Amino acid sequence: MDALGTVTRQVEARSIDETFALGERLGRVLSLGDFVGLDGQLGAGKTLFSRGVARGAGVPPDDVSSPTYSIVQTYTGRLPLHHADLYRLRGEGDLFATGYFDLLESDGAMLVEWVSQVPSARPDDSVLIEIEVLSPDTRRLKVFARGERSQRLVEAWLGPAPT
Ligand SMILES: Nc1ncnc2c1ncn2[C@@H]1O[C@H](COP(=O)(O)OP(=O)(O)OP(=O)(O)O)[C@@H](O)[C@H]1O
Ligand SMILES: [Mg+2]
Repeated sequence: MDALGTVTRQVEARSIDETFALGERLGRVLSLGDFVGLDGQLGAGKTLFSRGVARGAGVPPDDVSSPTYSIVQTYTGRLPLHHADLYRLRGEGDLFATGYFDLLESDGAMLVEWVSQVPSARPDDSVLIEIEVLSPDTRRLKVFARGERSQRLVEAWLGPAPT
């Protein structure tokens, strides 16, 4: 399996609202066992997108904050949503200490900012979204899906792949 997975889509978000709405649409179709990782420079929009996902998954908006300090937190919406931010971690050892790998085995969907900070944090079957800053207000989301579950998730989110 290649490192990233198939590039299935590229989507542009021309405003904060569009990025949030893309997250919200993903949150609506998330199911138990899904894994979505997010990469992109500081201020790319990973947390904004994650708030949209949480909203779409039925999490009360006030429950969502950036988990930069707590590393991982769980919200309860339509399903348990585990939201992690690996920015401050130096490696797998740090991640073990947070209980992250137990969460991967537990019920829920995972949403992980800075996922590439710890390579083993990303399971084989997973979606990776790289957010690129095109201008102060616009972003490009490059979506990679690795594994069948994740390819189905991307189709449910963005529609069938254009041929
Ligand atoms: N189209 C857009 N999509 C997302 N964010 C945007 C967009 N246009 C402007 N922004 C701004 O970019 C910033 C994104 O911040 P956010 O905290 O979501 O980034 P992040 O990737 O989580 O950064 P960090 O790695 O520092 O946590 C916000 O200040 C937001 O208002
Ligand atoms: Mg963030």
